[in-house]
Amino acid sequence: MDEGGALAPVPVSASRTVRSELVFPNDANPAGNIFGGRVLMLMDVVGAIAARRHSRRQVVTAEIDSVDFLRPIRVGECIELVAEVSAVGRTSMEVEVHAYVEDLFTGRHAVSATAYLTYVALDEGGRPTPVPPLLCETEGQRARMREAEARRAERLARRRRRAGGEGSGT
Ligand SMILES: CC(C)(COP(=O)(O)OP(=O)(O)OC[C@H]1O[C@@H](n2cnc3c(N)ncnc32)[C@H](O)[C@@H]1OP(=O)(O)O)[C@@H](O)C(=O)NCCC(=O)NCCS
Repeated sequence: MDEGGALAPVPVSASRTVRSELVFPNDANPAGNIFGGRVLMLMDVVGAIAARRHSRRQVVTAEIDSVDFLRPIRVGECIELVAEVSAVGRTSMEVEVHAYVEDLFTGRHAVSATAYLTYVALDEGGRPTPVPPLLCETEGQRARMREAEARRAERLARRRRRAGGEGSGT
């Protein structure tokens, strides 16, 4: 960090976080598939590490949205989570997380779930604090950042609508 000046941009690759786990019976529902809540917890942990790698700050989860569970993961299979910062605001960061299922016998690998998580960086006093700009190094990363900025605008509009509705008695 450039103390007292502008924060230096941080490349997307610096936030990349990967975690693999074997799914055990105590992670699963009676049908033998991993609980959605367990997947969300793992997503939040890798997402927070990615946000901390970008900001080098303490972070809190502000929002989790667009969670899609696409394929079940069975006991004995491997879940692999991959997180990267996809866009940043002034103090917030959107992290895109993909959960993959891997059959360890065959090597079959497929997307199991995806989500977007928003984290806010905090200073030593627990107040939101600026984060470095995001440096996109590939066209894919630039496209993803544009999509993330559209989602951020939707989130802001949603929060404004909610705030506008509060106390209106409707
Ligand atoms: C997230 C939190 C720090 C925001 O505090 P705040 O006083 O609303 O702060 P601000 O209004 O200055 O907003 C700070 C940033 O958070 C973003 N933000 C606030 N609420 C948000 C929400 N619900 N969803 C997405 N972003 C949000 C703002 O857009 C802003 O981003 P920007 O600086 O990039 O433009 C506060 O609401 C909080 O502590 N929430 C509880 C977090 C928590 O306990 N998480 C679970 C455990 S980690």
